[in-house]
Amino acid sequence: MKTVPVTQTYPYAQLANWIFRPLDYMEVNYRRYGDLFFARWGLFEWVFLNHPEAIKTVLSQDMGAAISAPGETNEILKPLLGEHSVMLLSGNQHRQRRKLIMPPFHGERLKVYADLIRQITLEVMAELQPGQALQARSLIQQMTMRVILQAVFGLHDGDRCRRLESLLAERLDMVSKPLASTVVFFPILRKNYGSWSPGAKIERLAAEIDELLYAEIRERRAAVDASRQDVLSLLLMSRDEAGQGLSDEELHDELMALLIAGHETTATAIAWGLHWAHYQPDIRQKVRDEIATAGANDDPMALTKLPYLEAFCNEILRIYPVAMLTFARVAQQPLELMGYTIDPGTLLVGCIYLLHHREDLYPQPSEFRPERFLERQYSAFEFMPFGGGARRCIGYALAMYELKIILGTLLTHFNFELVSDRPAIPERRGITLGMKDGVQMVYQGTRSVPTPIAI
Ligand code: HEM
Repeated sequence: MKTVPVTQTYPYAQLANWIFRPLDYMEVNYRRYGDLFFARWGLFEWVFLNHPEAIKTVLSQDMGAAISAPGETNEILKPLLGEHSVMLLSGNQHRQRRKLIMPPFHGERLKVYADLIRQITLEVMAELQPGQALQARSLIQQMTMRVILQAVFGLHDGDRCRRLESLLAERLDMVSKPLASTVVFFPILRKNYGSWSPGAKIERLAAEIDELLYAEIRERRAAVDASRQDVLSLLLMSRDEAGQGLSDEELHDELMALLIAGHETTATAIAWGLHWAHYQPDIRQKVRDEIATAGANDDPMALTKLPYLEAFCNEILRIYPVAMLTFARVAQQPLELMGYTIDPGTLLVGCIYLLHHREDLYPQPSEFRPERFLERQYSAFEFMPFGGGARRCIGYALAMYELKIILGTLLTHFNFELVSDRPAIPERRGITLGMKDGVQMVYQGTRSVPTPIAI
């Protein structure tokens, strides 16, 4: 049996590379070491897996005795989300929480959101003036934030929601640059060193966000409405085996996790979509033709079923996956992965970016070509933007709806132009992969008038 190759660069240099040049970091190590390798970041080390077979072995048994998906390994998220959110829970508690919060993001419930996503898209667009310069990522973030506020709280109007929207945006924009993202990796940088320090700003924003969330929790607890389907209502009504409900602190952490996970990633992906559709206008034309031929211009459910639009959205998530890695899994027993020995206690992580750039799966991987998804069927461990197994993304179906409906609606009814004719550059945004400067565009006005639909 073989032993997993260990990256030889000085571990703190590796961490710096991961923070400032994550794509180069992964590609260099892939070229040196291949399908799996030990990455060492300071005192921390884990195995990056990028071969579909290795990823499949790990993610298809991460709920059993051999491999676990513990929440403690996601500690990096604790300062932002709190310790009681689904991402930080383990074992039974984790399974139960997932069961509780999944339904509003899937199945029948999701169909209700289709019209809402379109309506929010049109609402946000109505605030723009033709000729206005904009950052596509910020524009789309307003849309995805309102969608998730509706899914989580059941409302998107009102002063509290608007305030929450701007505070969360301000908080997340604090890590929109690689240098600023270092606060995520080094707790010492999050300390409050006086009013000038990022730590002070983080504290102020966190206090204001907490106040709004706890006010909402208090009001909703005082008048629980059993007919409501939003996540907060479901969480308020839930009881464990001992008949115990969730505490305010637990509710707060879960709301934070869903609000943040539920709009940041999606906003980045859709902004990439706008970029690609204008950088390669033949793709925009194909999307428009498909929508027109299907008569789906004003029918959001129909947009979710169009093959080329789906292939386009898949290619957006393939080429620059917003989540570069899955969460960590841990070997609980000695394992064999593709002929390599894995010792108990080893941390294993699926490297989504490298998987999506394998030549053997995606010929010319750096080319943006939606057709590859029409020519070939990829398995769940070959194309994996939402991870898999015990921690597979809870919002994957909602995210795909948002991508298709927002992009379909924008490309059908509105005209934009890119400010630069150069390709956008991927760049770290906190723990996710975003793009430099958020795609600068100019809004050029309506292309066709959207038909209003009553919700
Ligand atoms: C393009 C958009 C999105 C991408 C690329 C994405 C990607 C991911 C990935 C890769 C994971 C980790 C999976 C693993 O470790 O196997 C994850 C987890 C998660 N995602 Fe998403 N996500 C997106 C949108 C959303 C949305 C809209 C929600 C809203 C509910 C959401 C909620 C979550 C939650 C709660 C988890 C943690 C699951 C757990 O710990 O059990 N995500 N996501």
